[in-house]
Amino acid sequence: MTVIIQQPELLGYQEEDKQAPLSDDDVHELVLDGEFVVPETNSFGHTFRDYNAESERKNTVEEFYRMNHINQSYDFVKRMREEYGKLNRAEMSIWECCELLNEYVDESDPDLDEPQSEHLLQTAEAIRKDYPDEDWLHLTGLIHDLGKVLLHPSFGELPQWAVVGDTFPVGCSFDESNVHHKYFKDNPDYNNPSYNTKYGIYSKGCGLDNVMMSWGHDDYMYLVAKENKTTLPPAALFIIRYHSFYPLHRCGAYRHLMNEEDVENLKWLHIFNKYDLYSKSKVRIDVEKVKPYYLSLIEKYFPAKLRW
Ligand SMILES: [Fe+2]
Ligand SMILES: [Fe+2]
Repeated sequence: MTVIIQQPELLGYQEEDKQAPLSDDDVHELVLDGEFVVPETNSFGHTFRDYNAESERKNTVEEFYRMNHINQSYDFVKRMREEYGKLNRAEMSIWECCELLNEYVDESDPDLDEPQSEHLLQTAEAIRKDYPDEDWLHLTGLIHDLGKVLLHPSFGELPQWAVVGDTFPVGCSFDESNVHHKYFKDNPDYNNPSYNTKYGIYSKGCGLDNVMMSWGHDDYMYLVAKENKTTLPPAALFIIRYHSFYPLHRCGAYRHLMNEEDVENLKWLHIFNKYDLYSKSKVRIDVEKVKPYYLSLIEKYFPAKLRW
C-alpha cells in the first residue's frame, strides 16, 4: 500500500475542533433511542451506559452536532469535494482499506472492543444471509463505511463533524427533522437568501445526484467508488452515498428533490439500513473464513488498486 502523507490544507477547522472518535452509528443510538431497539448489553455484557455516562455522552453528541451544523456550509462542502475528489492521498485495494480501518481503534466507544472493520463484515454477512443472490449488496455492506479513513492521519485526520453523523443537503434550507436543528442558526448559509429557501439552488425533482450533501464518509466513499470505475449497480452507489441521510430515509424530508430513479434506489437503502443499524451484534466473524468470498467480490466489482 502506498500512502501519501499530506497536511490538510485550509479546511476551515481548528485543531481544537478535533474530538474523541465517535462512530455515526453511536450517534444514532444515542440521539435516536426509542426509534429502534437498542441492544440491552454491550460487547462486555454490561448495560450500554450508566446514568452518568449517558449524560456525559449525550453532551458529546450534542456538541458533535453543534460543530457539524455550524461548519457544514455550501462553501465548505464545495472545498472538501474539490480537495478529496483529487484522490491523490493513497493507492490501495479495497481490502487494504478495510485493514487500515482495522488499525483505527475507536478509543471513545465503551460499547465496542472490536475493530471498526468488524462492523463492516457483520453488516455484509447479515445481508448475505438474507439476500444470498444479491452479491453486490454484500459488497456494499463491506465497503459502505470505508470513507471513515478520513479520520486517519494519512487522510488529513478530519474532525468527527466532517466525517460521521447524519448528512443533509446544503444549498437549500435545513429541514427541521435534522437532529439538533437549532445549531444551524450559526451556519453561514442560514441567513443567505440563495440557500435558505425550500428549494434554494435546486428545483423540484432535480434528482439527488444534483444535490450537494454535507461532507462526510458517505460522499467520500461514493467519489472513490465512482472515480475508480466500479461496476457496482447504481443502487449500491446510492446506498453508499446516502446511508447517513437519515432526514430522508427515516423522516421522509427532502423528497421534493428526488427523481424517479432516487425513489427506486431508496427502497434498497431502506433494506440496507436495517443491517447497518443492527450490526453491533455479538456474533464474531471469522475473517479468514469469509475473506476469500469478499476478495472475489472485490475483484468482480473493483480494480485491484484504487486511488483514494
Ligand atoms: Fe456510515
Ligand atoms: Fe455503518
